[in-house]
Amino acid sequence: MRRIVTFGSMAVVALFALAACGDDTSRYSSLSPRSDVTDDIQGIYKLIFWLALVVFIGVQFAIVYTALRYRRRKEDGVRPPQIHGNKTLEIVWTIIPAIVLLVIFIPTVRVMYEQADSAETGDYVIEVYAKQWWWEVHYPGMGVGTDADGNTNPMLTANEIHVPVDRKIRIELYSNNVIHSFYVPQLSGKMDVMPGHENVIGFTANQTGVYYGECAEFCGDSHAWMRFQVIVEPQDQFDAWVTAMNTAPPAAATTYGSNPDTGLVTTPQSFGICLGCHRVGGTTAQFAPIGLNQDAGTEAQPGTAKIAGPNLGLFGCRTTIGAGIIPNTLEDLKAWLRDPGAIKPGNYMATAIKPGTLDEAKIHEIAVFLLSLVPEGGCGEITDATDDVNNSLPTGYDSLLAATPEAAATPDS
Ligand code: CUA
Repeated sequence: MRRIVTFGSMAVVALFALAACGDDTSRYSSLSPRSDVTDDIQGIYKLIFWLALVVFIGVQFAIVYTALRYRRRKEDGVRPPQIHGNKTLEIVWTIIPAIVLLVIFIPTVRVMYEQADSAETGDYVIEVYAKQWWWEVHYPGMGVGTDADGNTNPMLTANEIHVPVDRKIRIELYSNNVIHSFYVPQLSGKMDVMPGHENVIGFTANQTGVYYGECAEFCGDSHAWMRFQVIVEPQDQFDAWVTAMNTAPPAAATTYGSNPDTGLVTTPQSFGICLGCHRVGGTTAQFAPIGLNQDAGTEAQPGTAKIAGPNLGLFGCRTTIGAGIIPNTLEDLKAWLRDPGAIKPGNYMATAIKPGTLDEAKIHEIAVFLLSLVPEGGCGEITDATDDVNNSLPTGYDSLLAATPEAAATPDS
């Protein structure tokens, strides 16, 4: 009897632990849905949980009952009847699991098809290009100017995907390197991002807030650091963000000057080394490749599209650096510029920027320039904003924060 009590209390503890996982504040929890899609997935979780509980209790009851009912009662040395095979029993224990599986299978397949159909269209279509190891985000037809064919340019950003609440979002996923997987536990299911194949995912977020996402398919050195955020905001706040993203940032203009013909902000001279890989929306830095447009190269010899870095437009409004790894402050940004490879192992920027490549004066100038990239009137409020990047910081990070030019030039030997 004591064992039954112990066992029962363990089950209760497990149930409470499960309930705690559904904590509303957990941004990585798949048990606190915030979209139509994850609501449906939650429904299947619950169905499976209750079915499993019924099965669990049934099996435990059968075990306890059998053990008690047919236990050896006295030392009389008489063997009980030895039974081999029982057709009725075998039919019953085949049919019951078949019914249980069917009850799980039918709604699961229904939800899968519904979600695939729902992703066919969207109030907003967003293209997401998985890179090693960050996310390039295009809002087709929402940028400034037109391309050679007269189509409106996309609006570009990286690692922080803004979407309006209660609107259907269709996300088209592309890669020109390896397979990644797009996953925002509170908003969407997982979807692989594959070279040479377009995958789509759709969702309608039903609550404003900042939601964490991450790559869910092993994709190389910094797979674990390939994170992003989805910022769900009211429509007017989203519209203001779009307008800001398409406006040259005046704060930078006063510091670094602007081109009178285009109105675009000029980048500081120290920024030259960054131009090969980075575009910066609203500034003169508009050369680096985007999307899948240019040569991806090979593993041994990466092409331009593969090494191209995140668009840094309105960088001052980003909440994190390095695809959700460290907070976006002046000191953190300078630490990143001192040695990006120490913070994010294997990243392409580290092939160009090693400890000592940039002196402290340049590091300061670039960091101040990037943080000055904010729209007139500030960045706009982000509901439920966070610089809690939910990570343990990389090993040795403290020393990068404090690095002097000398220290940066002579890394640990
Ligand atoms: Cu991208 Cu893992």
